[in-house]
Amino acid sequence: MFTFEIDEEITLKLLNESDAEEMFQLIDNCREYLREWLGWIDGTKNVYDSKQFIKGCIRLYEERQGLTLGIFFHGKLAGVIGFNSFDWTNRIGVIGYWLGNQFQGEGIMTRAVIAVIDYGFQQLGLNRIEIRAAYENYKSRAIPERLGFMQEGQIRQGEWLYDHFVDLIQYGLLASEWDSERGF
Ligand SMILES: CC(C)(COP(=O)(O)OP(=O)(O)OC[C@H]1O[C@@H](n2cnc3c(N)ncnc32)[C@H](O)[C@@H]1OP(=O)(O)O)[C@@H](O)C(=O)NCCC(=O)NCCS
Repeated sequence: MFTFEIDEEITLKLLNESDAEEMFQLIDNCREYLREWLGWIDGTKNVYDSKQFIKGCIRLYEERQGLTLGIFFHGKLAGVIGFNSFDWTNRIGVIGYWLGNQFQGEGIMTRAVIAVIDYGFQQLGLNRIEIRAAYENYKSRAIPERLGFMQEGQIRQGEWLYDHFVDLIQYGLLASEWDSERGF
């Protein structure tokens, strides 16, 4: 099973059903904060829903259609990162992520995204990695911008969030542009 130790603080692990309780508590403790930018929060009502989500992620992983990893910070589940989808014909992976609000501001996600990019280019042979973030989601947009992604365009009304559409900013990074030796 996929386990990747980024540094002494952060480990990425393939989620399994035994993580469902901790994952649900993490979401339930900061629903309002997550809900601002994630459209699936209201559909996560109990541990069973988190278990179903994890089962779906395992299935996608087995079919090579996704890779969803728990981010463990000092052994505690802090959030989730992964490739939400792959386009193998064109060797493209789309990264998505979220953190519990008490884990923000420590560079956890930036470090996790660096590790996932390295894995995507070096181990999976991807040529292009995409991240999409809502126009006003400045904390999320700061991550691809910090890592040298190119801002490629604006997808108008690209996502429905409960009662309104938001525009998305599309970021892209090519394998030829990534220097895995860069230090952060
Ligand atoms: C998007 C999200 C993951 C960003 O979290 P974050 O903590 O700001 O991101 P990082 O972990 O990369 O941390 C960056 C912050 O840590 C600081 N930091 C500390 N050490 C750092 C390091 N080694 N490297 C980078 N940043 C570091 C940065 O200065 C920055 O703080 P600032 O915002 O005060 O400038 C989080 O806000 C979130 O989950 N939001 C809700 C869900 C969501 O929007 N998901 C994305 C949908 S597209």
